Amino acid sequence: MEPTPNIPQKGPYAIELEAGTYWWCACGYSQKQPFCDGSHRGRGFTPRKAYSGSP
Ligand code: FES
Repeated sequence: MEPTPNIPQKGPYAIELEAGTYWWCACGYSQKQPFCDGSHRGRGFTPRKAYSGSP
């Protein structure tokens, strides 16, 4: 059975970032949207690596 993601917001997140590597939340359960806070554990999801600036 496929895990079901949570949809915390139906729209984009406007944020400012320093250049670097980030982990985007794929499960939707993070309390630090749009980034992973570890809440995916045990839910069948893994975060996705994302870059701001040059990788
Ligand atoms: S908390 Fe959602 S992928 Fe980590």
